[in-house]
Amino acid sequence: MNVRITGTGSALPDKILTNADIEKLVDTTDEWITTRTGIKERHIAADGEYTSTFAAEAARKALEMAAVNPEEIDLIILSTVTPDFPFPSTACIVQDMLGAVNATVFDLSAACSGFIFGLSVAEKYIRSGSAKKVLVIGAEVLSRIVDWKDRNTCVLFGDGAGAVVLEASDGGHSLLSTHTFSNGSYWNLLYQPGSGSRNPASDRRTFDDKLLYITMEGNDVFKHAVRAMEEASLKALAANSISSEEISLLIPHQANRRIIDATAKRLGVESDRLFINLHNYGNTSSASIPIALDEVNRKGLLKVDNKLLLVAFGGGFTYGSAVINW
Ligand code: COA
Repeated sequence: MNVRITGTGSALPDKILTNADIEKLVDTTDEWITTRTGIKERHIAADGEYTSTFAAEAARKALEMAAVNPEEIDLIILSTVTPDFPFPSTACIVQDMLGAVNATVFDLSAACSGFIFGLSVAEKYIRSGSAKKVLVIGAEVLSRIVDWKDRNTCVLFGDGAGAVVLEASDGGHSLLSTHTFSNGSYWNLLYQPGSGSRNPASDRRTFDDKLLYITMEGNDVFKHAVRAMEEASLKALAANSISSEEISLLIPHQANRRIIDATAKRLGVESDRLFINLHNYGNTSSASIPIALDEVNRKGLLKVDNKLLLVAFGGGFTYGSAVINW
């Protein structure tokens, strides 16, 4: 059974925070942020907007493009590290918002690689005959777990969501492969120390010691990200017996311009086959790849039989890749 992507959607908060705005919050400059990260602005959720708000909007757009009713969906996989609540899953809230009454739904936690992990799980459900129509969503409101007084991290992240509809198919364009990898030995290089069972939110110390915010060893994460994205990409190319010259478009996780450029260089992918939009959105974690995919799709940049390579890296560490024949 083949797996087709029949719809894409994305949703972003209206509120934009530029580098100039961040200059007023912490000791930084537009020049530093631009040269070190490539980011110019990011979208930030307003009061009353949650991860489910953007997840449901992105999903509705993907369903509309696929011409699929919410009741037809068998499975919703929602990747996030910023759920509305620790439980129930944000996927349950989105199921209710969409009226996807026949779906099995759950959240998936693989940080910035979560969308690729979600695609991989969805692919297996469809290929095994367990589901026919699946929504995979990456959605984040990272602005709520960022310390807006810490210049090392607050410049990097943004909010938003992206979604795809996957359908079982006897032919047509396909999800050719997915590969997922994990290396738990580095879990403490990029994580949120507080709010779980080790440092519960109910403990005053968790709040006082700022444990509710993203903690990151930026330099180490950078080096691992480049190596891991190269490895995941090469595995994907080898599995499909294709060379990097045959890739029409590389869509990497949008974390840092320099990580993206280094990965593309190692793979021999020139800038005209590399998609970058992080200057507009910052790092939206598991939402970054589906937002990018929706952007290129709606701009009409994808042609039938184009081969897309998606590759991600994130906290855990987790990493993964997917090849799509559009
Ligand atoms: N504005 C100005 N200066 C800043 C700054 C900011 N926003 N953030 C950090 N600095 C300073 C540091 O304090 C440091 O100063 P010091 O030398 O006086 O101590 C200096 O800039 C250099 O810091 P360094 O960490 O070496 O910079 P870098 O070139 O590694 O860039 C990151 C920092 C965070 C941009 C980079 O490491 C990175 O992107 N890492 C990967 C992060 C990531 O993508 N995480 C998500 C993965 S999914």
